[in-house]
Amino acid sequence: MKLRSAHWYAGQDRNAYIHRAWMRRGTPNHAFTGHPQIAIANTASDLTPCNAHLNEVAASVRNGVYEAGGIPLDLPVVSLGETQVRPTAMLWRNMAAMATEELLRANPIDGVVLLGGCDKTIPSLLMAAASVDLPAVVVPGGPMLTGTFRGAPLGCGTDVWRLSEEVRGGTLTQEEFTRSESSMIRSRGHCNTMGTASTMALVAEALGTVVPGVAGTPAPDSRLLQAAHGTGRLAVDLVRADRRPRTFLTKASFHNAIVALAAIGGSTNAVVHLLAIAGRLGIDLTLDDFDRTGSHVPVLVDLQPAGRFLMDDYHRADGLLAVLREVRDLLDPDALTVTGKPLANYLEDAPIWDAEVIRTRAKPLIAEGGIAVLRGNLAPAGALIKPAAASPHLLRHRGRAVVFDCIEDFHARIDDPDLDVDADSVLVLRGCGPKGYPGMPEVSNMPLPKKLLEQGVRDMVRVCDGRMSGTAYGTVVLHVAPEAAAGGPLSVVQTGDFIILDVEARRLDLDISAEELACRTPNEATLIGFANPRRGWERLYVDHVQQADSGADLDFLVGSNGSEVSRESH
Ligand code: FES
Repeated sequence: MKLRSAHWYAGQDRNAYIHRAWMRRGTPNHAFTGHPQIAIANTASDLTPCNAHLNEVAASVRNGVYEAGGIPLDLPVVSLGETQVRPTAMLWRNMAAMATEELLRANPIDGVVLLGGCDKTIPSLLMAAASVDLPAVVVPGGPMLTGTFRGAPLGCGTDVWRLSEEVRGGTLTQEEFTRSESSMIRSRGHCNTMGTASTMALVAEALGTVVPGVAGTPAPDSRLLQAAHGTGRLAVDLVRADRRPRTFLTKASFHNAIVALAAIGGSTNAVVHLLAIAGRLGIDLTLDDFDRTGSHVPVLVDLQPAGRFLMDDYHRADGLLAVLREVRDLLDPDALTVTGKPLANYLEDAPIWDAEVIRTRAKPLIAEGGIAVLRGNLAPAGALIKPAAASPHLLRHRGRAVVFDCIEDFHARIDDPDLDVDADSVLVLRGCGPKGYPGMPEVSNMPLPKKLLEQGVRDMVRVCDGRMSGTAYGTVVLHVAPEAAAGGPLSVVQTGDFIILDVEARRLDLDISAEELACRTPNEATLIGFANPRRGWERLYVDHVQQADSGADLDFLVGSNGSEVSRESH
């Protein structure tokens, strides 16, 4: 077969001379002919601490690529550290995806190994790979090992929320809270709860883009490097077989990803990411697919935030394949993986080694998990709730709204002793959608009012047009679409209105008449949102970002340009 890279390197003309000559930094002559050029799209960065170890993973990929007769090429790509990037890493996900897509297309490469870990990195890499459609395979960077504090395990993220609420509720001293900080991050790797990073690694495997059995391998585990080596070899084979993402990523793959998302009790963030990836592939995936396919799937994984354990335990219990084996009747048996074989083929020999961590189908953690999609006059285009992370007694609730126009308004008033709020109230936070913030931050799991925490209240119904951290929990309705800043009904809710949540009926309604709702107009500040950027990426983003129910991708990035570039640079 003629390699794509031959369009740069083959021939004796001036352009081929230039392309080869500048790459001759010890590269042998034969490297330019007949050897697949494999980019290693690497999100390693000191400012993405969860991915800082990926250079070592890349070295193992390189060895595998060489061994299989390919030429490995380091390609540093945009990296996003969830805990560091302001105002929210989600603002930059599409930018990272766009930059990676263009780099893959612009360069003389035949295939790519995608190295990600922290929340937005695997989604942005997969969005890029889907749009450029070159042979691609993911190596997830893996979770960190379990840290402990005062003899008990600490879950990244989840325990930050829990401990900080304990400080506010007066059951933990500030000094103890600060002391726990150095115990939280025990090793290299991403968050060890079933947060977004763990979820997206596992969902990427369920989609078929990771070699089955690899996702969830802890970052310090030597088996990760072994898997990276094998994946490097596979990348060369993918090019020779011309196995591109579009040859195996189908609606059936997304079906399996949704089943996996539900069975692992994964993050709600996976919904926007999967919708965005599907959009790049032209696959008709909607919010309703998540409810239809996922909401009756049992949650089998007892990991924080829904359960007790952490990713190290999960891997010890045998990981995703063991989970999927329990729900294999719900999977689409025809969905292929990057290896060319169906995912179902990998489930024969996948025993559960610890049935406390990965439950059997007969003893699920939660009988019906998944993500429920709500609609109603408050969310005409949909909203999400994760029932597994919610309080059962709040899944059907009518309460008085206490409205906050933006996160700053929320912080300024939530602990005011005079705030008119009680345990039955519904906290409403708007201005946090894709356009309004901008970037749809993880603020929907609003901290509860201090005075209610002191009374022992630990959960309330919360409604927001933003997202929430995959490590968070509570009765939180999120991703409300359209968002307030796009003129959605959330923009006209007033403090004192009653809101009705009925998860079983899949409803979220403002308890006012249709006539009154139609008469209300939002104030200008709510429509514009908190930010009205003048220039740069934020301007482009606000002008083109789609709503959460479409994956919050930019409208002009949906779909694919393929990998063709016909024109030369000279
Ligand atoms: Fe990177 Fe949680 S902060 S995975």
